[in-house]
Amino acid sequence: MKILLIGSGGREHALAWKLRQSPKVEQVFVAPGNAGIAKEINTETLSLATFEELVEFCHKEDIAFTLVGPEVPLSRGIVNYWRDAGLPIFGPTKEAAQLESSKDFAKAFMMRHNIPTAKYQTFTDAQTAHDYVNQQGVPIVIKADGLAAGKGVVVAESLEQAHAAIDAMLIDNAMGDAGARVVIEDFLQGEEASFIVMVDGENVLPLASSQDHKRLLNDDKGPNTGGMGAYSPAPIVTPEVHQRVMDEIILPTIKGMKEEGNPFTGFLYAGLMIDANGAPFVVEFNCRMGDPETQPIMMRLQSDFPSLIEAALSGSLNTVSVEWDPRPAVGVVMAAEGYPNEVRKGDAIHGVEDAHDFGKIFYAGVKSTLGHFVTNGGRVLCAVALGNTIAEAKENAYKVVEPIHFDGMHFRTDIADKALSRKA
Ligand code: AMP
Ligand code: GLY
Repeated sequence: MKILLIGSGGREHALAWKLRQSPKVEQVFVAPGNAGIAKEINTETLSLATFEELVEFCHKEDIAFTLVGPEVPLSRGIVNYWRDAGLPIFGPTKEAAQLESSKDFAKAFMMRHNIPTAKYQTFTDAQTAHDYVNQQGVPIVIKADGLAAGKGVVVAESLEQAHAAIDAMLIDNAMGDAGARVVIEDFLQGEEASFIVMVDGENVLPLASSQDHKRLLNDDKGPNTGGMGAYSPAPIVTPEVHQRVMDEIILPTIKGMKEEGNPFTGFLYAGLMIDANGAPFVVEFNCRMGDPETQPIMMRLQSDFPSLIEAALSGSLNTVSVEWDPRPAVGVVMAAEGYPNEVRKGDAIHGVEDAHDFGKIFYAGVKSTLGHFVTNGGRVLCAVALGNTIAEAKENAYKVVEPIHFDGMHFRTDIADKALSRKA
């Protein structure tokens, strides 16, 4: 079979790599992909831009199904468009994708269905928002309602910060339409984990747990990013916590979406805060897999990935199970000069050729110039390795990083330390 994958980052490289390992799969086309993916899985990347062009490509190439990496095409209705064209695609409809594309939608949904999450209110008027913050005090969390590529959340530790975030979003329009409404919610204490499941509208297949590192710098300091590294599994998700997440969050969400006439299909990613008693709360929903969580998760997946997606597309996820490599995997993101703000592009990337002994490199913000890879985005590469222990996986991942160099390259050196201290 031939598969079309939408997206261009390290997540898509990991998905394409895993799909390509299946004996069923003849080719994986990636649109737009990147030069690293094209070379590593020996595929074509497509510069087709519009839904119309891609649908025509699917018909022409007899694509078995389309898989969507990022949230933006989902929130623009790529799934609705494909279904109207009679093409199989795995992802949520535009309506169901509101669980990610509107924080207000997600919060109101969780309230209706009693799904544990921080108390909140939604505002379009700055003065009312300021009054609410004064009344609630800090710490408090200010979130743009719409998609903001991970930049729409301010965890305010002072009233000044909270008021400034409100003004930036509601008065100065700093986030554009995404910030025309803001959700203000209570600060949650605990440890975060990413809990990602596959859903066919009714049945749920949980994937391995993982933990992201959202802040730029070691010890969770510095600004939020898209994610600077991840590991799987997350030891904080014990079997008991796993059961609670399924019972209190995932199953009520899938049931609630179905009951409201808005069934969810695709990957559902619950970003969780797990408190000291092991009680899980939803920090956010995403309607796709995480980046970089996907990289260590795919490294551990042993089942035939396209078969899982086919089961989801035929509404029979209840008939399949999924096998994981019991060894933990750790992924370390190498970022470009300036990330997470304005990034410099075009720096030559050295050392990727000889880095494969201990693990794998997934390519993200990379392009090819005169046959050499150069940087072309904020998160450039992700080095992922398995190990018999988390400590060994971490060590191996950093061995993959070691020979790699590009000007301005920076990365965290403490990925997985939280899991190590938990184990200890
Ligand atoms: P989000 O984009 O909603 O995942 O938020 C980005 C990050 O901000 C999260 O991963 C958390 O680290 C932090 N965050 C968001 N909401 C809360 C909250 N209610 N309490 C504590 N931290 C939060
Ligand atoms: N790594 C966080 C996300 O994909 O949203």
